[in-house]
Amino acid sequence: MSDESSIKVALLGFGTVGSGVYEVIESRQNQLRHLVGHPIEVVAVLVDDISKERKMGSHVFVTDDFQEILALPDLDVVVEAIVGVEPAYTYLSHAIDQGLHVVTANKELFAHKGFELQKRAKDQGVELKFEATVAGGVPIIGALTKLLQVNQVLKIEAILNGTSNYILTKMREEQISLEKALTEAQALGYAEANPTNDIEGYDALYKIMILTELLTGRKVNQNYVRCAGISTISTDDINQANLRHERIKHVGVIEISGEKVFSEVSLLTVSESHKLYSVEGVDNAVLVTGDLIGELVFQGPGAGKYPTASVMVEDLVDIYNPVSKSIKLVTKK
Ligand SMILES: NC(=O)c1ccc[n+]([C@@H]2O[C@H](COP(=O)([O-])OP(=O)(O)OC[C@H]3O[C@@H](n4cnc5c(N)ncnc54)[C@H](OP(=O)(O)O)[C@@H]3O)[C@@H](O)[C@H]2O)c1
Repeated sequence: MSDESSIKVALLGFGTVGSGVYEVIESRQNQLRHLVGHPIEVVAVLVDDISKERKMGSHVFVTDDFQEILALPDLDVVVEAIVGVEPAYTYLSHAIDQGLHVVTANKELFAHKGFELQKRAKDQGVELKFEATVAGGVPIIGALTKLLQVNQVLKIEAILNGTSNYILTKMREEQISLEKALTEAQALGYAEANPTNDIEGYDALYKIMILTELLTGRKVNQNYVRCAGISTISTDDINQANLRHERIKHVGVIEISGEKVFSEVSLLTVSESHKLYSVEGVDNAVLVTGDLIGELVFQGPGAGKYPTASVMVEDLVDIYNPVSKSIKLVTKK
């Protein structure tokens, strides 16, 4: 940290997630200071349109020029919550090269460039945290990282897109069409105005790519991961499954056997005994099979302002207060 008095943070993006991170940092000041030993201060925010009204303190520097963020004196961390691979990749590469720690929520960026960014961060000796890129508020990256220290993860089956899960749930419960369920999801703010990433499965695909890279340590090529969305599903299909006491779920799968790795996003018909059968609405769930631990289920809010902001601020705390690094071995005399 450059300045003993406070940890200085720049937020890239001040939409749903970025504004959530700002509010959590502001409202949990005492708790954060206690955890990391210093105040955490948001000193600057990068946005696309500087003319928009924003709810933030007048001391925060707001700009649409990333070079002005890089030029700030004593900056410590960049917290990124903008959308898409570029310009985010260029921004984070420059931030890392300048010795800044990075926390990101940007799954599309991380699916395509996470491998390169992690190598860059390692070379520069800075931290790069990405918990919020998969399953929003469910801390699956941290849990898997810990499990992998001793276990081999053999399989993951996961509901990673709250919007598609919500639509499938509503189609079954209310006997409505996919289009009507999608309109409801949009009205409730669960689906974007352009829902392609959710409906065609790309959002889940990005998350499966990130998890596959985490498990294998190898870069994943998007072209080698089959991806199906929910756009072909009808209420008839759902009712047929229901008659057999089964449900159709939109599931990302990773299977690892020795050097062989299989990843895909597809529609899976699950029976009542399957752990994903009862995961409904906007929830995400990740079912992990480890060779020693057996089966674990992680379930919770896969998106949303505060769940996502919560894991990002936890990432920020981990940079300065990593529990693992604070455990010292006792040397016998
Ligand atoms: N929403 C969730 O629940 C959630 C959960 C997990 C991960 N994520 C990820 O988090 C990221 C942000 O999501 P969000 O829902 O917060 O999006 P959002 O509400 O659309 O906000 C995006 C923010 O980024 C800014 N921005 C966009 N392009 C920019 C550019 N080229 N330069 C500078 N600023 C730019 C926008 O500026 P203006 O305000 O000026 O338009 C806005 O403040 C995405 O990558 C998303 O995949 C979201």
